[in-house]
Amino acid sequence: MQPSIESLRTKYDEAGQGHVFRFWDTLDDAGRRALAAQAEAIDLAELRRVHQSTRSLAAPGSRRLEPAAVETLPEYGGSAERRARAKRRGEDVLRAGRVAVMVVAGGQGTRLGFDGPKGLFPLGPVTGRTLFQLQAQKIRGARRRYGAAIPWYVMTSPATDAPTRAYFAGERWFGLPERDVFFFRQSMAPALDFEGRLLLETPSRIAESPNGHGGAFQALADSGALDDMARRGITTISYYQVDNPLIQLADPVFVGLHDEARAEMSAKVVRKIDPMEKVGVVARVGDRLGIVEYTEIDDEHRFQKDAAGQLVYWAGSIAIHVLEVEFARRIARDPERHLPYHASAKKIPCIAADGSPLRPAEPNGHKLERFLFDALPAAERVALLEVAREDEYAPVKNAEGGDSPATARCALDDVVRRWLDAARISAPADAWVEVDHARLDGEDDARAGTLRADDVGLVLAPRTK
Ligand code: UTP
Repeated sequence: MQPSIESLRTKYDEAGQGHVFRFWDTLDDAGRRALAAQAEAIDLAELRRVHQSTRSLAAPGSRRLEPAAVETLPEYGGSAERRARAKRRGEDVLRAGRVAVMVVAGGQGTRLGFDGPKGLFPLGPVTGRTLFQLQAQKIRGARRRYGAAIPWYVMTSPATDAPTRAYFAGERWFGLPERDVFFFRQSMAPALDFEGRLLLETPSRIAESPNGHGGAFQALADSGALDDMARRGITTISYYQVDNPLIQLADPVFVGLHDEARAEMSAKVVRKIDPMEKVGVVARVGDRLGIVEYTEIDDEHRFQKDAAGQLVYWAGSIAIHVLEVEFARRIARDPERHLPYHASAKKIPCIAADGSPLRPAEPNGHKLERFLFDALPAAERVALLEVAREDEYAPVKNAEGGDSPATARCALDDVVRRWLDAARISAPADAWVEVDHARLDGEDDARAGTLRADDVGLVLAPRTK
């Protein structure tokens, strides 16, 4: 039975959120129904807890840290032999059809300011291929290499779902079988002002945003994606974010290392450029591995160097993980316990008390997000693999400057140039280069110099600037 609007309003009044119904008398029936349904779905007690916890976040330095054990790159003392062994093992796991890839693409991409989901951003330096097209090429390449379906689980949010699905359909799933692409949608979380009061986006709508990539666990479970994986015999998920065009999805070395360690969740790391770089570091926190955000590490640990003058906490997380399906199921059963909401101060468009629209120039409230990496301490075993940043990580975050389309495009061009150099193929310095990743024999091999320009559809275009 629908609770009456009176009891709903009373509940909101008692929670200090009665202003949400400020415009009730002016709303038409559809507006009232929409607002009531949205308000009904919000857990006010949970919201209060979240707001209180955002004000009492662990102070920097309050936790005991130890560096984590990482399988480092051979040039930093790691074993090339162990990597080769992991690769063989990972190839077996991939050939056995046990691996799915999963991308989180529910974010609003506010910093990039692109009109549409980020996955539709054109990034190929020569062809203008979009991020999704580049990723689909890589999946097609992996399917061919391992003779396995490697299904693609695409997380969207109410903010990105419809345009993403329409794009995939319009592109005929990029040549992948439609049955091997599974969309699932994360939930939204309400936004709060700095006093913990809900913000209104319109007179009939509470301001909300996607509930963070950590919303993936529940979305995977609720959508039936985990059951779908189980039905297909998938045990292991290769996870990445939509905005990294260098992603090596279903990387056999990473999958193999994870499998060999019988890990539940694993992470790739890169060496931090400098102590102030804004990436979280993987470290031992108490008796568990976790990711300590750059905002939360104290200066003593941040700047600590070893006898050789190297940063002790150098292992920067790049949001590339491998997860066991059963682990994801376990986390999804109790998200409140494993995935606390984080509040980040943002400029949130809303309406003022008189109903006039506000487009704040400064942050006016908190968006609430769960982070996928908060699940790491719940994993019984974790494998950590160091990779070279220039090979695997160049995110598209900002419209200009660092981590922008311009830097990511150059990084993609550089990767291909290194493959060409290793294979002694020359390309004019004043050209952009691009290959068809579906035709590649694996990035490891390309790095080792096996690339053949004709086989991988090398294309060039002059650089205009
Ligand atoms: P970011 O945290 O960089 O956020 O997401 P964003 O939405 O892309 O960009 P800004 O912060 O608004 O500028 C990292 C990855 O996590 C996904 C994004 O789509 C991206 O792949 N993500 C983020 C989600 O899938 N859902 C979310 O709620 C948040």
